[in-house]
Amino acid sequence: MIDKATVAQILDAADIVDVVSDFVSLKRRGANYVGLCPFHNEKTPSFSVSRAKGICHCFSCGKGGSPVNFIMEHEQLSYYEALKYLANKYHIEIHERELTDEEKIEQSDRESMLIVNENANKHFENNLLNTAEGRNIGLAYFNERGFSEQMIHRFHLGYSLDKRNDLYETLITKGFNAKYLFETGLCIADNNGSGYDRFRGRVMFPVLNLAGKIIAFGGRTLKHDKAKYVNSPESLIYKKSNELYGLYQAKHAITKLDKCFLVEGYADVISMHQSGFENTVASSGTSLTEGQIRLIHRFTNNITVLYDGDSAGIKASLRSIDLLLAEGLNIKVLLLPDGDDPDSFSRKHSSTEIQQFINTHEEDFIRFKIRILLQGCENDPIKRSEVITDVVKSISVIPFPINRSVYTQECSRLFGIDEQVLKNAIEKNILDSRKKDIQKKANTTTDAGKPDSAHSQIDAQNNTIAHKHDADDQSYSKLLYPHEETVVRYILKYGMSDFCDSIDEQGNPIRLTLLEYVDSELSMDNIKFNNHIFAKIFEQSRNLISDFYNALQQFIKNLDHQCQQRHDEEISRISLECQSLDEIKQREGRLNDEIEQFRKEQIIAYRNNYLEKALCSCEDDGVRQTAIELISEKHHLSKIHTKFYKLKTEFDKLTVLIPEAIYNWKSALILCQIKDIQKQLNAINNGNSETEKALLKRMQELFALRSQLAKYLGDRVVNPKI
Ligand code: CTP
Ligand code: MN
Repeated sequence: MIDKATVAQILDAADIVDVVSDFVSLKRRGANYVGLCPFHNEKTPSFSVSRAKGICHCFSCGKGGSPVNFIMEHEQLSYYEALKYLANKYHIEIHERELTDEEKIEQSDRESMLIVNENANKHFENNLLNTAEGRNIGLAYFNERGFSEQMIHRFHLGYSLDKRNDLYETLITKGFNAKYLFETGLCIADNNGSGYDRFRGRVMFPVLNLAGKIIAFGGRTLKHDKAKYVNSPESLIYKKSNELYGLYQAKHAITKLDKCFLVEGYADVISMHQSGFENTVASSGTSLTEGQIRLIHRFTNNITVLYDGDSAGIKASLRSIDLLLAEGLNIKVLLLPDGDDPDSFSRKHSSTEIQQFINTHEEDFIRFKIRILLQGCENDPIKRSEVITDVVKSISVIPFPINRSVYTQECSRLFGIDEQVLKNAIEKNILDSRKKDIQKKANTTTDAGKPDSAHSQIDAQNNTIAHKHDADDQSYSKLLYPHEETVVRYILKYGMSDFCDSIDEQGNPIRLTLLEYVDSELSMDNIKFNNHIFAKIFEQSRNLISDFYNALQQFIKNLDHQCQQRHDEEISRISLECQSLDEIKQREGRLNDEIEQFRKEQIIAYRNNYLEKALCSCEDDGVRQTAIELISEKHHLSKIHTKFYKLKTEFDKLTVLIPEAIYNWKSALILCQIKDIQKQLNAINNGNSETEKALLKRMQELFALRSQLAKYLGDRVVNPKI
């Protein structure tokens, strides 16, 4: 947890052009910079970076955002990891917030385990390269397997000496707590209060997480009488089912090529990378899990699974691939020649040959599945129908109808079965699984869906506009959404700008920011945002008000200092250059105007950028994403002239635009209430009841309120700024 002040310092220091330039080569275009989008493959640049706005945005795939966002997305880091990355880049020392006791234990345990792993691996790497045993056994083995020096380094391969407790002794001597040696699984406690090494006489493959931290090890023995691989046990930092071997080294290539090769083992990954196929990862011997699939899905939609030709596991693994289909991934299969695994295959052939083999042998997954399953049961009708049922199941889980129908046609052709029959079976499967879903939901949400009793109350006295309506009535949300969006957008763009005069509780005149004005307007009628992300953005903005005033004060102080300096410098120049006192006075006057203008503009820019910057770098995913979407519309980052023109006029017209937006919203809220009453009236069929009368009266009031509002809107303009 990083304290607030440091977070602010980091966000302040992070320059978007600078941050993006570490990963994308940028060219200047007008006020912006453009480059090839790092999030998808493209030939012409559609990735735009605006230094003034502090954001980047891809016009083609829509990705981008603030510096934090960019790093989160590009490096696949969490919010705090991204902040730490930026702190590191800008040499900002991090003062972490005081953690709760529980967090402390958890945090320090995690950190300590990572540090232990890192040190252990340094030891293993050193053994491999600088000890006789390591070189003669470990390095010799890697060389024999054809692993290049570069790959040994890239994957941080190492060697664990064939001694009882070499690592244990080394790390304890260095001062590490034995507890973490045991918890990481590097060592095992013995009965004498000491410990011995888990990996003895093995070559070591460290497993890195997405941030590049070592979370586990695989150790391969070079002897024949032992289990080939020993792996770290699961721990606080290692959940096997959520990790993929090689992903850290492969992630950039996967994103760039928009494709991932999935293999089985450590050696396969390394050999593939060595052959230039850096978009390769391994599930490390287990069948794929949903967590691993999600992980790949963050980088690409396209996966090709590489199988050994003679793998006995093919049939067994087919089922786990249905999981991939259900995630909407595009799956292909590449069956390698008999006797080869990706490791041996890629060592036998040149990169071009491998690429050629992939191009010609990559097979669509469903077709592959049909082929494999049908082998040997062409003449067995019962087995055939089992296969068909199985394949139909696979097709049923594909989330996209078009893809499903393509497969259905294909399947009908391959099996020689009427397409309609298959379609019916698929539809039945889909229906069944929906029913199951609904049942599941019904069992978990018992309280949801209770009718809201407050909603049907008619309260003629209550003249406020705030309106409680059916949470599940989509039409209200739809009606309100554009109005709420407009208001939120103004808040994001200009929320802290100096907006209008008002008086405080003691009757003293004060100035309000746009945000404060909107807040007072909304609370007057007890209006809340219906959309929960907008509500959060509004809430967070309000929470930032006091921080803002402090920051503004500091900013103005620095600015004044800067202005003073400039003034002094120019004045001394003027007095040197000028001949007459009149001329001096004239030039001094002009200088003062200029500086005053500069000062004003700086303050306006600071105010206008404040909320945008804060919310586009906010910790909350929903808030951040929405904020970025709201401010990165096309015209914002497009041509400078039109952009400037638009901004200027919009900013100047805010005193008209804001009241208008709020009153339009209020009007929509009243409309919701009117609609509600209409609904209730329709539901009543015994005419002339008391309820009906009351409803009609309320409706009339609402109509009156609405036209009043329309009229009000005509003359309601906030006093413009002086
Ligand atoms: N594996 C494991 N434990 C085992 C065997 C295998 O964890 N006892 C995992 C390892 O991640 C291994 C993968 O399954 O990399 C694939 O197994 P295998 O094909 O037997 O190993 P290779 O990586 O091909 O190793 P090598 O080529 O050195 O035999
Ligand atoms: Mn192998």
